[in-house]
Amino acid sequence: MTQQFTIARLGHQGDGIADGPVYAPRTLPGEVVSGTLVDQVLTDIRVETPSDQRVKPPCRHYKSCGGCQLQHAADGFVADWKVEVVRTALAAQGLEAVMRPIHTSPERSRRRATIAVRRTKKGTLAGFHGRASDTITEIPDCHLLDPALIAAIPVAEALALLGGSRKSVLAVTLALSEGGLDVAVRGGKPMDGPLVSILAQATEKHGLARLSWDGEVIAMRHAPVQRFGPANVVPPPGAFLQATKDGEQALLRAVLRATEGAKRVVDLFAGSGTFSLPLAQSAEVHAVEGEAAMTQALDQGWRRAQGLKQITTEARDLFRRPLMPDELTKIDAVVLDPPRAGAEAQVNELAQAKRPVIAYVSCNPVTFARDAKILVNAGYTLEWVQVVDQFRWSSHTELAARFSLSPKT
Ligand SMILES: C[S@@+](CC[C@H](N)C(=O)[O-])C[C@H]1O[C@@H](n2cnc3c(N)ncnc32)[C@H](O)[C@@H]1O
Repeated sequence: MTQQFTIARLGHQGDGIADGPVYAPRTLPGEVVSGTLVDQVLTDIRVETPSDQRVKPPCRHYKSCGGCQLQHAADGFVADWKVEVVRTALAAQGLEAVMRPIHTSPERSRRRATIAVRRTKKGTLAGFHGRASDTITEIPDCHLLDPALIAAIPVAEALALLGGSRKSVLAVTLALSEGGLDVAVRGGKPMDGPLVSILAQATEKHGLARLSWDGEVIAMRHAPVQRFGPANVVPPPGAFLQATKDGEQALLRAVLRATEGAKRVVDLFAGSGTFSLPLAQSAEVHAVEGEAAMTQALDQGWRRAQGLKQITTEARDLFRRPLMPDELTKIDAVVLDPPRAGAEAQVNELAQAKRPVIAYVSCNPVTFARDAKILVNAGYTLEWVQVVDQFRWSSHTELAARFSLSPKT
């Protein structure tokens, strides 16, 4: 039975929501839509009255691909919505903040992406997971990825033919680096001698900088260098890297602005040194990160670089063993960039430590707002928040923020 609904708002996943709640993917607030209700989700959707914010999706893959959720909305609408997502998360904690202008990465600027590849009877199928979860959509004209990544999809297919099984989907992470393509494969056949030699030959044939297989480096023709400030870093295989260079630079500018003048900084959840190394141009930095391979990469990058101040590194699980107030006494500014879960344990200690400035980079507005509330209750002022959108057309929202200690505390 066809039913009609008016969309009231967008949910966190970018779906339209009507009273009920009824979820209507790829619809916009104010639109009158009709379709068949299955559980609480509207299917076979027809947009009866389109929003004036509705646009023709720029990418021809949008209909079937699960990579983007908001290509049917005008850029300005998406930007305002992401800022509003942050404002709403803060308001739910009784907080508000000055919102600095959003920064959105350009089209075709993703420098790292994981391609799903399945072996088929005829060969391979490679792309992003489709909107239906068990499908793969080919993406030769993807508007997100850097063209050099799209050009590398045949490499992912070739690797699947060599080392993928017919039963599982291979996850091939492709990252652009100064040394060429850095490829990390997960979910392939178990490694053995013959497979190592076949994959080493493939590394040569396709001119890859590095190929790793389930975390093991198979071959490295050129160091897959990432440049962080004046330093060249070779991150471990498959390591975290900000999704776009443009977004990385926008986050870095926000972190530098927030910590300006600091002489001693701790960088928590430091990764391979995205922020630590540029910060070390003007401050001593203690970088703390859970993965020892990343702190080693950071340390080596620092040792080879010229003109940086001291960086010390520490591999430490900051959920279980956050830095304690007595370890932070000499610190002027704290930078933290935790995973989606946020950094509740660490933030509880920062609340006690009362350092002058905290620069918080977050990929989850809800956990950010929860942690912000702890800091504000301890006397910090949330000075500003800037949304940085490296995942344009997705519902994903990232931000950088500055907290400072109010004079009376
Ligand atoms: C969002 S990334 C940020 C990395 C880095 N700041 C950057 O911009 O490249 C989060 C980092 O936190 C690290 N991490 C995750 N859980 C952790 C934990 N419990 N303790 C310490 N580090 C952790 C991850 O390995 C990852 O490098």
